[in-house]
Amino acid sequence: MTELDLDVHHSESDITEQLRADVRAGLEADQKWLSPKWFYDARGSELFEKITALPEYYPTRSEREVLAARGGEIAESSGAHTLVELGSGSSEKTRLLLDALTSHGTLKEFVPLDVSETALAEAAEAITADYPSLEVRGVVGDFTQHLDLLPGDRPRMVVFLGGTIGNFLPADRATFLRSVREVLDEGEWFLLGTDLVKDRETLERAYDDAAGVTAEFNRNMLHVINNGLGANFDPAAFDHVSYWDEENEWIEMRLRAREPLAVDIPGADMHVKFDEGEYVRTEISAKFRREGIAAELAEAGFSVEKWWTDSESRFGVSLARSVRG
Ligand code: SAH
Ligand code: TRP
Repeated sequence: MTELDLDVHHSESDITEQLRADVRAGLEADQKWLSPKWFYDARGSELFEKITALPEYYPTRSEREVLAARGGEIAESSGAHTLVELGSGSSEKTRLLLDALTSHGTLKEFVPLDVSETALAEAAEAITADYPSLEVRGVVGDFTQHLDLLPGDRPRMVVFLGGTIGNFLPADRATFLRSVREVLDEGEWFLLGTDLVKDRETLERAYDDAAGVTAEFNRNMLHVINNGLGANFDPAAFDHVSYWDEENEWIEMRLRAREPLAVDIPGADMHVKFDEGEYVRTEISAKFRREGIAAELAEAGFSVEKWWTDSESRFGVSLARSVRG
């Protein structure tokens, strides 16, 4: 194995401390919820990679189609010297951008940032091997906390793919977009992937596949809490639910107790009860419309220079430039 240059801004003890705080806040609430950040231990990242290849999960393929078709234009417009990827995971699709930017001749550095150290290390190692002229500096961190630490020669382009922006609640999304704008200088770039509003069936199936991989991914969060806080959740006692909330235009992922349950969470000093049918919300995945996301980007201090979708208009990609804000 090659020596990897990973900056760790998120130590094991920070992570346990935050898991404890999140579990306390979320499981004490009337409507129980947990942060989707907790899906992604090593197993969770592996399961997510499987999700991206499922027939029902179109977002990865649709976004890849856009990046393949528009990589050259993106490289041309931005002329980026540094590519910063937030929530980078395997960085598989990102290779299309790395290819376009290296053939354009401007790119020097790639900075993937992810909470999942295993996914990040694997991706950084593979990309270091495949792009020998590129400086690769992986950052283990939380994109809601560690953006101010991002290195890189200007101009930089921050990319946020996979529709992960949809995993924020609207108010948190506005805060996040602002924080991305704040780390950029005027004139630097932001490339954002957003899944688009469509029919209920397509959406609900994308998050509830026939093979049950997404169900396993959802339940993995309970394993993460068992491992991190010594809890005794029985993941098999929870049903996986994918629900399209038409009013809010978001998919909700839930874990619903099949029977009344009592769970001990010693690491958070908690005993939690579930009624039959009671659920924990583990994630929202908001879906967007072109005008809506353009307005949100403008509000955060960006101007949208380009907008593209795949051939079936399932997924949108915005190329935005930071303006005085
Ligand atoms: N960008 C990839 C992966 C998307 S899945 C793709 O498009 O396929 C979401 C990714 O964000 C996972 O790799 C997960 O580990 C990471 N992630 C989730 N919450 C995060 C947070 N708060 N800070 C940093 N990374 C996070
Ligand atoms: N960012 C992805 C999305 O919102 C994460 C994701 C895909 C996901 N499938 C999932 C999260 C299933 C929970 C359950 O599309």
